[in-house]
Amino acid sequence: MSKIHAAITAVHGYVPDYILTNQELETMVDTNDEWITTRTGIKERRILKGEGLGTSDLAVPAVEALLKKRGISANELDLIIFCTTTPDRVFPATANILADKIGAKNAWGYDLQAACSGFLFGLATGSQFIESGKHKKVLVIGGDKMSSITNYEDRATCIIFGDGCGAVLLEPNDEGNGIIDSILRSDGSGVPYLHQKAGGSVKPATHETVDAREHFAYQEGQAVFKFAVTKMADVAAEVMERNQLQSEDIAWLVPHQANKRIIDATANRTGVTADKVIINIEKYGNTTNGTIPLCLWEWEDKFKKGDNLILAAFGGGFTWGSIYLKWAY
Ligand SMILES: CC(C)(COP(=O)(O)OP(=O)(O)OC[C@H]1O[C@@H](n2cnc3c(N)ncnc32)[C@H](O)[C@@H]1OP(=O)(O)O)[C@@H](O)C(=O)NCCC(=O)NCCS
Repeated sequence: MSKIHAAITAVHGYVPDYILTNQELETMVDTNDEWITTRTGIKERRILKGEGLGTSDLAVPAVEALLKKRGISANELDLIIFCTTTPDRVFPATANILADKIGAKNAWGYDLQAACSGFLFGLATGSQFIESGKHKKVLVIGGDKMSSITNYEDRATCIIFGDGCGAVLLEPNDEGNGIIDSILRSDGSGVPYLHQKAGGSVKPATHETVDAREHFAYQEGQAVFKFAVTKMADVAAEVMERNQLQSEDIAWLVPHQANKRIIDATANRTGVTADKVIINIEKYGNTTNGTIPLCLWEWEDKFKKGDNLILAAFGGGFTWGSIYLKWAY
């Protein structure tokens, strides 16, 4: 009997309507379109406006459209893994909240926190439930309302982040397609360079933490850049080498969208030519867990059954990783 792989059988995404352009940011902080474009590749990002809306509200339209596309009901889902750095609340899990909103009565679920690498960590863990035979339908969501932890007085970070969400369905595949290999890494010594200072158990919220704006993402951009640019490229090359893949074997490189220069470095290191590198950073900025599933959604029509895809990410923590998968439809 051939090995069961966990294959993506449907993908969908959602970005909110409001477009925050570089020009609007120029009116908020001391920056300019030329600086942002050359340093990051970002032109605009989406922002979820509206009182009382959180990351689960980005996921609902993405998941409902995905289920419709696949022709299944929410009750058929076995497991929901919600990869996010901006959960609706500290507890309960956003996966729970989403299950209720979409009417998934038979699924259990949990949130997964690995910053910008979260979606890859979620794919890797979700695939285990399929490969083991435990589950038949696993929903993996990557989404963030980054605007909820972005300091719009800090020009070094507010230009980068945006809101967005993507979701994939994992199902068993016995044709040799699906998730073939993954290499995932983490290094907690990276904490000082990218983190949220307050709001966790180390430093719960107080008037002082709010006044000091410590509930936003804090980043030392240059340090993060140095790690990201080497780690993401190295791990993508490593997963290719381990699977005897040459650059010409790769149909698509799907990099986390943090910075166009980091994406270019990963493409150069793997030898994948620019026409096979998926980039939409100019429209959405860094949506953290959302970047890779949003790329898969936007490029879905171009993928062919059996295409070799290399996914690669780097995130706060530090976390990083790469997944090799064969597209299944
Ligand atoms: C954040 C980032 C775009 C900054 O680019 P950079 O080239 O490293 O820029 P620096 O931080 O060295 O700043 C260079 C100068 O631009 C200034 N600057 C910072 N943000 C600016 C902005 N939005 N507009 C104009 N100038 C800005 C700095 O103050 C600094 O000025 P100085 O030289 O007078 O001190 C870049 O470091 C980066 O992308 N880092 C990785 C981010 C990342 O991947 N994060 C998520 C991980 S998943």
